[in-house]
Amino acid sequence: MNQRELFLKHVAQTSPAPLALEIIKAEGSRLWDAGGKEYIDLIAGISVCNVGHRHPKVVEAIKQQVDQYMHLLVYGEFIESPQVQYAKLLTDHLPASLNSVFFTNSGTEATEGAMKLVKRVTGRTEIVAFNNSYHGSTQGALSVMGDEYWRNSFRPLLPGVHHADYNSFEALELIGSNTACVIAETVQAEAGINAPLKEWITALRKRCTETGTLLILDEIQCGFGRNGSMWAFEQFDVVPDILLLGKALGGGMPLGAFVASHELMWKFTENPVLGHITTFGGHPVCCAAGMAAMNVLLEEELVKGVAEKEILFRTLLHHPKIEAVRSRGLMMAVVFDSFETNKKVIDACIEKGVLTDWFLFASNCLRIAPPLTITEDEITKACKMIIDCLNEL
Ligand SMILES: Cc1ncc(COP(=O)(O)O)c(C=O)c1O
Repeated sequence: MNQRELFLKHVAQTSPAPLALEIIKAEGSRLWDAGGKEYIDLIAGISVCNVGHRHPKVVEAIKQQVDQYMHLLVYGEFIESPQVQYAKLLTDHLPASLNSVFFTNSGTEATEGAMKLVKRVTGRTEIVAFNNSYHGSTQGALSVMGDEYWRNSFRPLLPGVHHADYNSFEALELIGSNTACVIAETVQAEAGINAPLKEWITALRKRCTETGTLLILDEIQCGFGRNGSMWAFEQFDVVPDILLLGKALGGGMPLGAFVASHELMWKFTENPVLGHITTFGGHPVCCAAGMAAMNVLLEEELVKGVAEKEILFRTLLHHPKIEAVRSRGLMMAVVFDSFETNKKVIDACIEKGVLTDWFLFASNCLRIAPPLTITEDEITKACKMIIDCLNEL
């Protein structure tokens, strides 16, 4: 059997029609398949590879850490330098109230840990979440996911979750003295890029504070410079009580985190002790890779370049078949009339050598979320290929 047949037979599948590209090498914003064909990567492993694939400094940090030690003991027992140093770097670049980092294995587990923490801190059980939001795929995270189609087959899920429309002022009325937390993406990604109104997110923050409800902002996808500032919440002048991180956090290695104040996080040490535990969360190799990637973001000032690259994409992506382009930095949705059109464009792009995708809750929108290191030349080439595909439809 060839690799493709083995893949379909022995690797568990999540869709009847996987892309099934066999990529054998990746570097910067380029991927190469087994036949030697080159692709410009416009999705960065879904907003993971913000500093590009295999940045030399990230690769070097991984090698150095592997030479020292890999897994030692469950999270939180030993002082492991990569965790300590990365937590320090992250909190140095966050508001003072977000000064304690719980490292996890994934974004989903960051959501789960945060949802436990809010219950433990407030003693309350109700949660307000938003339609068209995605926070992960396990049963707690699925309970707050904003679409019944994806939730329904897995019931019973968590009770006491109320879903409301993002940007709806009526949603604020659901927040009261029984609400443990509100969980929201700072900018909704899988909705096809849906940003909050500044007045709305400010009012949301205020309502949470008034009612003693904790505000969880999920920046697993929109954080780490993707929106044109290190953290998306900086653009709206709000600070969450708990911040969720993942994806780009690990620089291409699996890592998630929830960040809160030391005071809140301390609750996990008592009643019960070991309030949230994980064997591999905060793996030293992943933390070393993530810290190297964040240092690259800072040293190469990649965040500063995001706005200009966003403008270049927006300038080049004009075609009668494009109904709109929604974007926040290098997180963009190109809107078509239907999923059918979008799928044809995506397939044709892959054929030409541009890798792109659609969104969970916006199947008519084409995803553009490249490495932040993508060059002008690569943007120009990729956009030309997209336009050519549209001309040939
Ligand atoms: C906004 C958001 N939250 C949470 C997650 C879950 O992260 P993970 O897939 O690492 O568990 C994702 C993943 O796509 C996401 O986009």
